[in-house]
Amino acid sequence: KIIPVILSGGVGSRLWPLSREHFPKQCLPLTDKQYSLLQQTMLRTLSLEVVDPIVVCNEDHRFLIAQQLQSIGVKKSSIVLEPKGRNTAPAIALAALEALRSQSGNSLMLVLPADHVIRDLAAFKATIKQAVELAKQDALVTFGVRPTRPETGYGYIRSGEDFSVVEFVEKPNPEKAQAYLDSGEYLWNSGMFLFRAKAFLDELAIYRDDIYRAVNLAYQQRTEDLDFVRIDAELFSKCPEESIDFAVMELTKKAKVVPYVGDWSDIGAWDALYDYADKDEDNNVLLGDVMAEGSTNCLIRSDSRLVAAVGVSDLVIVETADAVLVMDKNNAQDVKKIVKRIKAEG
Ligand code: GDD
Ligand code: MG
Repeated sequence: KIIPVILSGGVGSRLWPLSREHFPKQCLPLTDKQYSLLQQTMLRTLSLEVVDPIVVCNEDHRFLIAQQLQSIGVKKSSIVLEPKGRNTAPAIALAALEALRSQSGNSLMLVLPADHVIRDLAAFKATIKQAVELAKQDALVTFGVRPTRPETGYGYIRSGEDFSVVEFVEKPNPEKAQAYLDSGEYLWNSGMFLFRAKAFLDELAIYRDDIYRAVNLAYQQRTEDLDFVRIDAELFSKCPEESIDFAVMELTKKAKVVPYVGDWSDIGAWDALYDYADKDEDNNVLLGDVMAEGSTNCLIRSDSRLVAAVGVSDLVIVETADAVLVMDKNNAQDVKKIVKRIKAEG
């Protein structure tokens, strides 16, 4: 059996003004009219043999997430609440401790970021099945995606025989990323993992005993009500902040990589959503009450009013009830700067 573990920690500030501190991007129906990214992630796992899921998220989002899970028919789950996120190594360690406590210790954890879209369910399912055999032998299995650009925000994996990982490099510099891409020998780390809870915790204890201990202490002082598992704020704040990639995957000798050949997309910013979405004959993505004349390569989205665009290209326009974003599509990463200013200037 597989335990779905969904990491739902971020806010997704580059998708402002749709994402908000109290309404993070994974809870939005960004790529689907009906279901949010979180719900789609959960529904995707139902094609496998799974037990009750574990979701690790920020305390502030607990009701939103509980409600979204309920509305797709998830009756029982563990929602582990972080007072403040410490990145993915601690979040996954919390999930592993929760898995050991609440489920049979032998189950495999399938760790999934809440903000990826995958349409090819058959490929997803077949790849996980392949990974199960490796994870049963205590490997830490990652899923490798063929790279298409020298992205520096991802991890790169060079694989050897029998799914072995020869090298794992998280977030390389631009020169290295380009060299890895050109060599044709590297895969992107998709950010999904499959392993036994104990296998992960053992490796974490070897390479980052400080994180392992801090998470253990904080988890021991948890309180529980309904599906919620609240982690001790004071103790958890002392846990070092690090990603699973730097803390464990770059260092462990137990890593294996299974290639994933289906579609995969990390909807991090508006340009990624544009790339992912279906376009009309003018290469526009028009969502909601929108009219475009003589405009090309735009993503235009309206929530509450008619939005019209004339003679413009390569723009992102996002209208919501209380904020409107107009942006050059090539500057999609800079939305973060606006969010920062809003926080600072009020
Ligand atoms: N609960 C919780 N707490 N979740 C978190 C936290 C946290 O403190 N930090 C991040 N997450 C969640 C994010 O919401 C996201 O769904 C997932 O964990 C991955 O975190 P990111 O911050 O998006 O990681 P990344 O994109 O920089 O890098 C990872 O993903 C890439 C592919 O998208 C790495 O695994 C890379 O190697 C990989 O290529
Ligand atoms: Mg990411």
